[in-house]
Parts: sequence; structure tokens; C-alpha cells
Amino acid sequence: MSANSSTLPGGTWSLGDLTVTRFGYGAMQLAGPGVMGPPADRDGALAVLREVVDLGITHIDTADAYGPRVTNELIREALHPYPGSLHVVTKVGATRDEHGGWPPARRPDQLRRAIDENLESLGVSELDLVHLRLGDAAGPQPGSLAEAFEALVDLQKQGLIRHLGVSNATADQVAEAQSIAPIVSVQNMYNLAYRQDDELIDRLAAENIAYVPFFPLGGFTPLQSDALSSVADRLGSTPMSVALAWLLQRSPNILLIPGTSSVAHLRENVAGAGLSLSEEDLAELDRIGR
Ligand SMILES: NC(=O)c1ccc[n+]([C@@H]2O[C@H](COP(=O)([O-])OP(=O)(O)OC[C@H]3O[C@@H](n4cnc5c(N)ncnc54)[C@H](OP(=O)(O)O)[C@@H]3O)[C@@H](O)[C@H]2O)c1
Repeated sequence: MSANSSTLPGGTWSLGDLTVTRFGYGAMQLAGPGVMGPPADRDGALAVLREVVDLGITHIDTADAYGPRVTNELIREALHPYPGSLHVVTKVGATRDEHGGWPPARRPDQLRRAIDENLESLGVSELDLVHLRLGDAAGPQPGSLAEAFEALVDLQKQGLIRHLGVSNATADQVAEAQSIAPIVSVQNMYNLAYRQDDELIDRLAAENIAYVPFFPLGGFTPLQSDALSSVADRLGSTPMSVALAWLLQRSPNILLIPGTSSVAHLRENVAGAGLSLSEEDLAELDRIGR
């Protein structure tokens, strides 16, 4: 595979002063089952991360809560010292309990600890971009983010964080964050079949703010739809490739962070996301999420 940053599907995007490839990589599923503990195939996980960089991808999404610490430590082991072009994006606001749950951890003291842990496990002195993860496993929940977001702004002023974003957020919470300090991205659940954020994506595009869909391929329940399979068959492609190509074509501010623990799937996704979808394909796909 001879892709590099300039030839990856979708080109690049600016997160503030940081340029990333729109085709990124989500590291969550490199941890063990249920995103707890080490991967079954540690060498395979390290190989995926090295391939990510070899392919020219410059955006890796992670969190210290994955494992916990597991994906951050794998990233560090595989890629540190990081190439200057690579940006590792993390999130804080949830921790893990003994049952593998994701209880919120958004008090200022918990956020400070989470930032320190991310800095240490990734082996950096400043985090490129930190998302404040809101809501819960059921999705975004209403409520003010002010206390938590202001705590992160304070850590940003101390030089520990370069850019801020929010995740699993309602549109009101995005607006509230913007009233406190600039954000460069929003990371919410969105894919062909789950399109709650259509309006938000368009608003953020107009403001030059990235929208980073998590579960772009359906997450733990891979996307399945007759319409998706029929478009993929017609184009001689795969449903996963069509789902990624659709996101890239949906809006220029969408950044991809599909997860995989397989080098073969990673290559397939990079190759497939460049697929050009016609108006007819788009109209057929559009009906899936409506
Ligand atoms: N902010 C948040 O609250 C939040 C929540 C969830 C996730 N995230 C972020 O979003 C990223 C993406 O989410 P995700 O990884 O959970 O879900 P995803 O990208 O929607 O899907 C990943 C799944 O798709 C499979 N897959 C990938 N490429 C494939 C291919 N070409 N053919 C067949 N199967 C394929 C993977 O299996 P294989 O390993 O077998 O390829 C994996 O099971 C995460 O890594 C994480 O960084 C954020």
C-alpha cells in the first residue's frame, strides 16, 4: 500500500493549528473484550498502530479509560517518539469500574488526574486535543458542562492541553462549551443508520469545527442493511467501504476514526473510503437513516 497523507481519501483538515488526515484511526477496540484489559494479540495490535502511521494517517483517537491505560500504552510502545505530523487525540470525563462500566468522572479533581494519566501513559508534555466526554452509555444527556469544561480550560491555560472538544454532547452543550472557550471538534455517535446529529454537523461545518463520528461502522453492532449491501454490490465494493465513503462525502468537516484490530481491515478501509458515490447511490443510502 503506497498511500500517504496527501493521497489518503478525504485529504486533510485543520484542528486549530494542527493538520490531520480526515482518514484517522480509532484505537478503542485494540484493548481486550469489553474494552477491558490487554488485547488477545498484543503484537498484532502493535502492528496495526505501526501500519496506521505507515499508511500516512496522522490522527489517532484514544482514551486512558480504554483498558484502562491499555490503548494509550500500546500507542506509546508502538509509536513513541511520535512523528511530528501525528496527532493523538484523547478524552476524559469517564472512568472504569470493576464491571467494565463507564461511570462519569467529571469533577475538576478527577479531570486533573485524568489529564495527568493521559500525559504519562502517552509520554507527552502536552495533549494535542482533549474531548470532554459527557452523557453516559445511553448517549448524550442534558445538563450544564460549565464546571467540567472550565476545569479543562484551566489546564489548557497551564499548557497541558493544546485544543479542546466535547464528546457525547447535546447541541446545547456544544453551544455552552463554545460560549466558554473555542472548541475544534465534536465527537458524537453518527453513522449511515444513526443520524441524530445531521443539523449539528451542518452548523459545525459552517463554523469550521470538525465533527468526528464514533461508531462510524456501527461499533459493537456492525452496520447491516439491504440498501447498503445492494449499493456495495453494485459498485463492486464492501458495506464498510461504502459506509466510510458516505461519511467522507456527507460533509467536509467529518473526520473518520474507524476502529479495527486487523491490518487487513485497516488497509481495506483506507482503500475503500475513497469510493466515489453517485447522486443515485447517495439517495439510496440516505433512506437508511431516515
Ligand atoms: N467518544 C466516545 O464516547 C466514543 C465511544 C465509542 C468509540 N469512540 C471512538 O470511536 C472509534 C471507532 O469506534 P469503534 O472502533 O468502536 O467502532 P467502528 O469503527 O464503528 O467499528 C469497529 C468494528 O468494525 C470492524 N471492522 C472494521 N473494519 C472492518 C472491515 N473492513 N471489515 C469488517 N469489519 C470491520 C472491527 O472489527 P475488526 O477488529 O475485526 O476489524 C470492529 O469490530 C473508537 O476506536 C474510539 O476511539 C468514542
